[in-house]
Amino acid sequence: MEQLETVRLTLRPLTADDLDRVIGLYGNAQVTEFTKLGQLTRAQARTTLEEHVQRWRDRGLGMRAAFLKAGGDFVGECGFFSLASRVEPALRYALLPPYWGSGLTTEAVRVTLDDCFARAEPERVWSVVQAPNTAARRVMEKLGFRLQEKVEEPKPTINFYVITAEEWRTREPTGPS
Ligand SMILES: CC(C)(COP(=O)(O)OP(=O)(O)OC[C@H]1O[C@@H](n2cnc3c(N)ncnc32)[C@H](O)[C@@H]1OP(=O)(O)O)[C@@H](O)C(=O)NCCC(=O)NCCS
Repeated sequence: MEQLETVRLTLRPLTADDLDRVIGLYGNAQVTEFTKLGQLTRAQARTTLEEHVQRWRDRGLGMRAAFLKAGGDFVGECGFFSLASRVEPALRYALLPPYWGSGLTTEAVRVTLDDCFARAEPERVWSVVQAPNTAARRVMEKLGFRLQEKVEEPKPTINFYVITAEEWRTREPTGPS
């Protein structure tokens, strides 16, 4: 199911038509504070978007754009990319700052993981979070991810979180999606 729905959001695969949206997201200093590359230029944003679109074609799994059901605002993205060091999908999420702090990310990730485990059936899903990114670490905890590994060098420390299909299936429900 490529289009997903939660109580407050609709999510659908990123397409080439989302270029202006992702330029706004990947070029935002607050959104990219805890990323290796930091703010992306327009050209870098275009390349990243092309990779996301290609991943959908190749793997049937990728990043989705998220929109508020009420009013239709683009709020950010949620979905999967590939880590060089792991075979299973890696979760990524980012919202524009006006939408932070109201549980939207947790809501988006829940439905995204439900879809991924049901359709793609990976054994586990990873998520990589810089240690100083307190909000993202909290999102991981709320969703039941476990801290599997810390890569301390080079700084900042990178936390590798994981959740298995079985852990996701048997987790305690923690809220609406
Ligand atoms: C990380 C991010 C996605 C969180 O989005 P969000 O919609 O605010 O997330 P939620 O509201 O679902 O949950 C955030 C949780 O972190 C907590 N939190 C937020 N900022 C915090 C801080 N500075 N210190 C401690 N906790 C914090 C919130 O209170 C909330 O927990 P709670 O529900 O127990 O109160 C958002 O900040 C973002 O887009 N950041 C930039 C991109 C990014 O860093 N992505 C993560 C890497 S994959």
